[in-house]
Amino acid sequence: MMTEHAPVLAADRLTSGYGEVPIVRDVSIRVGHDEIVTIIGPNGAGKSTLLKSVFGYLPAWHGRVLVAGDDVTGLTPEKLVRRGLAYVPQTNNVFPRLTIRENLAMGGFTLTNGVKDRIDWVFELFPVLAERPRERAGRLSGGQRQTLALARALMLEPVILLLDEPSASLSPKMVETVFASVIEINRRGTAVLMVEQNARRALAISHRGYVLANGENRLEGSGSELLESDEVRRLYLGE
Ligand SMILES: Nc1ncnc2c1ncn2[C@@H]1O[C@H](COP(=O)(O)OP(=O)(O)O)[C@@H](O)[C@H]1O
Ligand SMILES: [Mg+2]
Repeated sequence: MMTEHAPVLAADRLTSGYGEVPIVRDVSIRVGHDEIVTIIGPNGAGKSTLLKSVFGYLPAWHGRVLVAGDDVTGLTPEKLVRRGLAYVPQTNNVFPRLTIRENLAMGGFTLTNGVKDRIDWVFELFPVLAERPRERAGRLSGGQRQTLALARALMLEPVILLLDEPSASLSPKMVETVFASVIEINRRGTAVLMVEQNARRALAISHRGYVLANGENRLEGSGSELLESDEVRRLYLGE
């Protein structure tokens, strides 16, 4: 049932995995309108698997996925895109042989018109892309490529963006640029659910966060609560 106050996205006691092995077990998360929510946790905790399950790449074995209160469990990624979800995987998130502009046009593939206007909108948001629209994505730096992946995901005006480690393998300066982009995207009205290794920086810009360990909910709280938690500081912030 659609309700005004339903979170834009929720996983409700979700279990999923590969083959016979459950990886994500009984996990619940929610993302409110206008929120940035970060999931942290050790390598192999199931963070990427959770995002893939939410986005319909893996079936839910138990539990549900809800978008604005509607049960969307089992819908394909294509259908979830129509419900306002966008997903940026950690790698292979642009078409390297296509230009920046072509990548963006592909991102807007279901727009019947207005592709050009939307490209102009993302160019205004990311001037670094506007400077070189004909450059092939494969020739961009890591940070520029990640920016293009964010821009492409924004082409269909998603309600919520799912980001898998957007700052992975970027230089410290580019990490700041990508997080600044996430803040700006959110400021313009898109909710963000991201998985991050860079826990300190990610939690610092997040309204709320979750710690996933062993495929299960371990901790949750506001970004600042998690940054101050002894367990988070010891295990994830190296303090
Ligand atoms: N395609 C796959 N097939 C089988 N097992 C996988 C696959 N992808 C990941 N796994 C396993 O699932 C577990 C969680 O992986 P992942 O969700 O990628 O963790 P995280 O993103 O938290 O590092 C790991 O044990 C990993 O080996
Ligand atoms: Mg991962």
